Amino acid sequence: MERSWWKEAVIYQVYLRSFQDSNGDGVGDIGGIIQRLDYLQKLGVTVLWLNPCYPSPDVDNGYDISDYCGISPKFGTLDQFDELLRQVHARGMKLIMDLVVNHTSDQHPWFQQSRSSKENPYRDYYIWRKGKNGAPPNNWGSHFTPSVWEYDPATDEYYLHLFAKEQPDLNWENPEVRQQVWKIMRFWLDKGVDGFRMDVINLIKKPEGLPDSPLPATCAEGYTFDCDLYANNPGLTDFYREMKREVLDHYPVMTVGETAKVTPEFALDYVGEPERLLSMVFHFQIVELRDNFTWGGFKAIQRKWVDALWSKGWSSQFLQNHDQPRCVSVYGDDGEYHVQSAKMLGTLLHTLPGTPYVYQGEELGMTNTAFTSIDQYNDINAKFDYQELLAKGKTPEQALAVLNRYSRDHARTPMQWTDGSNAGFTEGQPWLMVNPNYPAINAEQQENDPDSVLNYYRALIRLRKEHPVMVYGEFQEYEPEREDVYLYTRSLDGERWLIALNLTGRPVEAKRPVEGEYQVLLANYPDPDVQGESLHLRPWEAVICCL
Ligand code: NOJ
Repeated sequence: MERSWWKEAVIYQVYLRSFQDSNGDGVGDIGGIIQRLDYLQKLGVTVLWLNPCYPSPDVDNGYDISDYCGISPKFGTLDQFDELLRQVHARGMKLIMDLVVNHTSDQHPWFQQSRSSKENPYRDYYIWRKGKNGAPPNNWGSHFTPSVWEYDPATDEYYLHLFAKEQPDLNWENPEVRQQVWKIMRFWLDKGVDGFRMDVINLIKKPEGLPDSPLPATCAEGYTFDCDLYANNPGLTDFYREMKREVLDHYPVMTVGETAKVTPEFALDYVGEPERLLSMVFHFQIVELRDNFTWGGFKAIQRKWVDALWSKGWSSQFLQNHDQPRCVSVYGDDGEYHVQSAKMLGTLLHTLPGTPYVYQGEELGMTNTAFTSIDQYNDINAKFDYQELLAKGKTPEQALAVLNRYSRDHARTPMQWTDGSNAGFTEGQPWLMVNPNYPAINAEQQENDPDSVLNYYRALIRLRKEHPVMVYGEFQEYEPEREDVYLYTRSLDGERWLIALNLTGRPVEAKRPVEGEYQVLLANYPDPDVQGESLHLRPWEAVICCL
């Protein structure tokens, strides 16, 4: 298999408005990231992915961009960005940007022009249609509003927005739009950035004719949110091919596509060798298990992806991001076995095939927050879901209970640096509440504790850097049907490692899958019991052994 830096990378996601504030306005910023580069370097991560930091009205926290080649004054200046990039590179790390080009902000000059008249040269930059008998052009439901269509009285037409009405979708059928996107990409690549995370990049191709969804309504207002219809449409790869030819082929960079509803079959079209239109994608099949999550389901998905992609294309691993609740609260135990389960999840993340993505605070085992009122939420999605739940007859308490399970704001609470005021995130008023557990869970305390989650993540990342078997080793699973343990080996050039994970909060026993003496390389308990007939694993125990 061809070796590449982005296969060997450990990528750290910086949700910068919550990472570190350097000027006391309550919002994380570029100056704050610069202050924390020592921390990131010591953690060992090799690539930083910056969530959008461009000028934006912030209807969807920066995913509504009004100027693609600037830096939001909330976060700093372009000069500060250049300095960040310089310092990241000086430390031997890389930096990738968020490319959000399925849609712009409605405040972007292109859209302002586009909506001004039907004759405007920018009209066709967006997707405008006439209504049908006083109703929107089709029955599509949006992520953050009932319909994807917003009526604009100025020209008596509707424009399409798969997300908020302030996020109109670009019309990728227009070659001029594509040229503009290539220009934006070159602007950042010429500065020296090392690639892009591409926001909802498999939604840019709309289905021919924008047909109604055949599925029943999903929202109280009668529209159908049908992501399968919006995603992975025929012709999508032609856009990727053009992007590669025009831009990516000319720079030594990586890309990761955020691709909802992607299956291994679709993914192969995007990341398959030798064409490799994208370096890798994020799939959401595990996230989609949601209330039906089982470890059996998790393992089956991992198996399916390894079987389909092994040596044909590369993949990624993540347990959370800025759109998902905290992984230790979802898959582990944020109570009694907080530390053990956070470490077990970290082990899983770094040893399964694919490039691992660590989301800020995950390396501390940061947990979900108990929000007690809708006013404590910031996220547009939470507010929409709350209204929808009420419209469907839920009580405010029931609606809050749903949000408390899934809200994106769990991931967005400020980074917990110290046990001081506002967890050391800001000297001002934080833009989103700090999780009240920061006196117990924070980086400063973990720095000084050799058994902390933070120091365990450092050890995992070091192992991955030193041992190619963790990156390129062939994957073999044992006892796949078991819900309580996860056992697999990674093998490369005669070296063979076993990863044994207890997926529960009780002791479990498993047959040793391979004979011989095991040398323990890393574990989240002292003295793992792995040499006898069976492996004895304590609650959430994780052991990496060399066989
Ligand atoms: C995916 C991003 O991760 C999410 O935060 C955003 O709301 C949507 N795309 C729309 O850009």
